[in-house]
Amino acid sequence: MPRRFELPGGLPFGFARFLSWVSLVLILATSIVMSVIITDSARNTMFRKQQEFASLLAENLNHQIYRRFTLPTLVGFGRIALRQPVQYERLDQLVQSVIHGLQVSRVRIYDHGKIVSYSTDRADLGRTDLAGPEITVALRDEDPSYTIDADISFWQALFTPRLEPGSFILRTTYPLRVENRLGRIDDDDDSPIMGVLEMTQDITNDTRAIIAFQWLIIGTASLSSLVLFGMLLVFIRRAERVMAERMQEKQRLERNPLGIIRSSAELLLKRPSSSDPVTARILEAIYDEAKRLSQTVNDFLDYARPRQPRQDPVETDGVLDRVLGFLEGELARREVAVTRETEPGIAVSGDGDLLYRAFYNIMVNALQAMDGPGSVTVTARRDGDEAEFAFRDSGPGFDPANRERLLDPFFTTKDDGTGLGLPIVNSIITSHGGSLRIDNAPEGGAVVYVRLPLRSE
Ligand SMILES: Nc1ncnc2c1ncn2[C@@H]1O[C@H](COP(=O)(O)OP(=O)(O)O)[C@@H](O)[C@H]1O
Ligand SMILES: [Mg+2]
Repeated sequence: MPRRFELPGGLPFGFARFLSWVSLVLILATSIVMSVIITDSARNTMFRKQQEFASLLAENLNHQIYRRFTLPTLVGFGRIALRQPVQYERLDQLVQSVIHGLQVSRVRIYDHGKIVSYSTDRADLGRTDLAGPEITVALRDEDPSYTIDADISFWQALFTPRLEPGSFILRTTYPLRVENRLGRIDDDDDSPIMGVLEMTQDITNDTRAIIAFQWLIIGTASLSSLVLFGMLLVFIRRAERVMAERMQEKQRLERNPLGIIRSSAELLLKRPSSSDPVTARILEAIYDEAKRLSQTVNDFLDYARPRQPRQDPVETDGVLDRVLGFLEGELARREVAVTRETEPGIAVSGDGDLLYRAFYNIMVNALQAMDGPGSVTVTARRDGDEAEFAFRDSGPGFDPANRERLLDPFFTTKDDGTGLGLPIVNSIITSHGGSLRIDNAPEGGAVVYVRLPLRSE
């Protein structure tokens, strides 16, 4: 059973709710992707900075070793032999003084045979099993390389609550070269390689900082999207409540059981199965009667409802526009011409919807009285502090015999009339502080006069 008052409330807000969930997922997904991208670039920047630093440090070590160890040793001893404790101590002191305070955890020097000839850890000396592939590359291609040694991946580290020191190590492999006379190592110069320097730095602290940063971004993004989502939900809830209240109010005012009977009959009529002519006729009768009764009940409710009109400024021209606009099709069908002679800019205080209803009832009565082609003249003019509206039709006019009873509820001369049209008009107009007068024009036809106080100022 389609009940039209449920659709406007249920549908759009269900959709809005769905949209807000979608947007939550979208915002969250976007913020996670963003945080990954940002973190990745932060991580790359950190890595590049550390690499630059390592490169400068290695270059400095190269320089110091060459100037303050290799050259003096060659002069003093004739050759380099690190197995001699004197030479070894001298190199060790030099290396220690250069790396002092610089977070370098280990320095090793490999000779051409990939044997450890120097190490800050003496236990490594002479070992042949420590040289990785980078050493070979450095000896052959003479290019430095930078490697990160880690037991876990960065993404695993994200979910590791406590990163042990040494979890992330930057290992720099740097060919040690003989310097030229200016104390420089030219890139394109093939100055001989003395050995390979391997230097490790613990970058766990920096990695920790990046991880904290990543969590900060994820946290901020999810928090703000949750707040946004919460606000959206609150807004939708409130709007839904307002809508529900409005629907209930509407139902209370509009819905009567006849409406259900009418639409049920309509539904059955439209069903292909109701092709049986007898059934169809009965359904049609139910439909017509229910429609008529429903109109009567609505009219009566309108009539009986206590009226306390609003005090809005109402431009009566606009109200007439709406009435004539609504009746346009009907007027054309019945070949009724409407002449409008209204002073512009007339405004009254009241309820535009009620005044619409009053003018509408008057117009419908005129059309029904003419029952065919004819003309209606609508005039509006200012008269002192009142406005006077007149609706004159070319019908038979009011029957003088009924003059006294026209405003009585349920008085009608029509077979399908409710007799509530004019009483409703009367009640609306008097509640606006105005008056209703019914007359016949000297040249024939009915005239309905409506007087309303003009809106002050
Ligand atoms: N423009 C009109 N010309 C002639 N008679 C009218 C006109 N308007 C109303 N009447 C008479 O007044 C009666 C009451 O009108 P109304 O209260 O609107 O009820 P209804 O239109 O349902 O009959 C009508 O039945 C009709 O006889
Ligand atoms: Mg009527």
